[in-house]
Amino acid sequence: MTKGDEIMLLQVKDNVFYTGIRDWELRMFHGHELSTFNGSSYNSYLIRDEKTVLIDTVWSPHSETFLHMLEHEVGFAHIDMIVVNHNEPDHGGSLAALMEKIPNVEIVCSKKGEDIIRKHFQNPDWKFRTVKTGDRISIGKSELVFVDMTMIHWPDSMMTYMTGSNILFSNDAFGQHFCGSSLFADEVDESIVWAEAIKYFAGILAPFTPLIKRKVAEVIALGLPVELIAPSHGVLWRKDPLRIVSKYAEWADDYDEGYVTIAYDTMYQATRKMAEAIGHGIELEGVQMKLFNTALCDQSDLMTDFFRSKGIILGSSTVNNGLLRSLAGVLDELRGHKLKNKIGFAFGSYGWSGEAPKTLWRGLEEAGIKVVLEPVTARYTPSAEELKACRDAGRAFAKHVREEKL
Ligand code: FEO
Repeated sequence: MTKGDEIMLLQVKDNVFYTGIRDWELRMFHGHELSTFNGSSYNSYLIRDEKTVLIDTVWSPHSETFLHMLEHEVGFAHIDMIVVNHNEPDHGGSLAALMEKIPNVEIVCSKKGEDIIRKHFQNPDWKFRTVKTGDRISIGKSELVFVDMTMIHWPDSMMTYMTGSNILFSNDAFGQHFCGSSLFADEVDESIVWAEAIKYFAGILAPFTPLIKRKVAEVIALGLPVELIAPSHGVLWRKDPLRIVSKYAEWADDYDEGYVTIAYDTMYQATRKMAEAIGHGIELEGVQMKLFNTALCDQSDLMTDFFRSKGIILGSSTVNNGLLRSLAGVLDELRGHKLKNKIGFAFGSYGWSGEAPKTLWRGLEEAGIKVVLEPVTARYTPSAEELKACRDAGRAFAKHVREEKL
């Protein structure tokens, strides 16, 4: 089926090859929302059975490279079917350019996927075959089996399982924003892969944990043997692939690692001193803590630490009767991420009106975080007594952290 004798695509397993793009330069994803310090990849796969099937495409800035690869290594005329597991532009972005070359090829997607593709590409005259959980399509020796993943994390999301090779093409689920020296997790530094996997989960999937819990159980109940999990970002899970599924079950189940994250912004260091005193009190009680200045730190990493923490403490100086702006953004992210089973409180320095800690308190409650202490405040520069009150609040909070773990 290739134009030459030798296929120049990297082999994934058996008759499955890698047709994705590894984006070594990427540093921000979802516009400028998520940091990707290790790059990312838009994974696409080619199955060469009696039918030749393409699983997903790549983000449109890479369309030209993607199409060139398909033309030279596969030949457009050989492609029989395109599976679109999810049409967010990082995966469906090259679909229009590809369909210009192969307008009669069938697109297999979920019902919602068809709707989204039609809207994205202005109601194109393409052939769609919509599928739902349990539907099967024979492609020769193998069958493709589809699993609906609605709202994990878009309405159209689905996974595709390939019998025979027992590969789960999981799309966004089980991915990481990571560009590795190998396609496979077991051939790179897995400590980085796991750090990126939890950051990805915290940043993209955390709002959907109740659905993920149910879906992981449903996927396990299907009883499909899985020898390889091939997500749409990052490296593939080949060695003991269900490790990442077990991790998702853990992360979706009121996850925390028992430490406290203190996030503050400060104008003249008074609120910073309060943050440090609170942190000192927490450590005196034997609980671990991390401090972040929200104006300086990476927001995706901060959200990952919130996700991993049991306690979330927010502090801001009061300015113009409100918060310093970096905290306003943090509150908005916390509300959107709907983290479960966390406790918190608020603090901050002020000169005369002092609204910020109460605004943070309300924000924590709106984000579903149980506030367990009254706000702690200090007027202008915190005195030794006020710093002691911060330390005491830290100690009291640490006790809540330990008790709430029971
Ligand atoms: Fe990787 Fe939801 O796109």
